[in-house]
Amino acid sequence: MNIGMIGSGNMGSAIGKLWARQGHQVMFSYSRDLKKLDAIAESAGSNARTGTTAEAARFGEVIMLTVQYAVLEDALKAVGSLEGKVLITCVSGLRPDFQGQTLGLPTELTSSVAEQIAQLAPGAKVVEAFNLTFAELLQADSRQFGTERPSLPYCGDDADAKAITAGLIEECGYDAIDAGGLIKARSIEALASIWVQTAVVTGLFPNTGLKILRR
Ligand SMILES: NC(=O)c1ccc[n+]([C@@H]2O[C@H](COP(=O)([O-])OP(=O)(O)OC[C@H]3O[C@@H](n4cnc5c(N)ncnc54)[C@H](OP(=O)(O)O)[C@@H]3O)[C@@H](O)[C@H]2O)c1
Repeated sequence: MNIGMIGSGNMGSAIGKLWARQGHQVMFSYSRDLKKLDAIAESAGSNARTGTTAEAARFGEVIMLTVQYAVLEDALKAVGSLEGKVLITCVSGLRPDFQGQTLGLPTELTSSVAEQIAQLAPGAKVVEAFNLTFAELLQADSRQFGTERPSLPYCGDDADAKAITAGLIEECGYDAIDAGGLIKARSIEALASIWVQTAVVTGLFPNTGLKILRR
């Protein structure tokens, strides 16, 4: 599968590397430092390359959006049309210091960053995923906690896009958990706020994972 990474920081570089190692063709984009971008692609191996943001958007059947909320609109303007693409987002509205509430949207539960993205990218099949995990875990050699894999809830409105996303989540070493329609991004983004706080307050950050138990 061809995947365009919009954002190649902590999350984007780690997720893109994992997918490239699984055999997907990955294009990294959206950095102010092109040398850094080249180094990320080089360390991801022969399935990776770099491009402009618009090139990554054209290249990918799947687009992974991993930018800070503050530059979200700028990033999506640079991307151009994403009509018909699977657009996976982990963008959260958390404040940079993780203190206090989120930036407003998620905790009011009248909207979410993911739904805002769906409005900014008409026709894209938006799926929220990778919000309830840490870049440090994605960067580690393994996602395993002993014999357990962490769960990773995702949500969206397009069944095919969700199935593709679930496969990509599993390939990163998580149990993909279907959390419902895109409206559930409101809850996932609110949960992310507590999730990060809990990890920090308990001192477990970043070596902790969320688990949905089954029996
Ligand atoms: N980190 C986590 O554990 C985690 C977990 C779940 C969700 N998230 C969410 O995922 C998103 C990405 O997080 P991250 O930790 O990967 O962020 P990050 O390391 O800051 O990466 C942001 C990316 O955007 C690029 N960028 C380009 N222009 C920018 C500008 N003007 N200002 C800021 N960045 C710019 C950065 O490039 P350069 O810096 O190279 O220029 C980088 O590639 C955020 O919305 C975050 O809330 C993060």
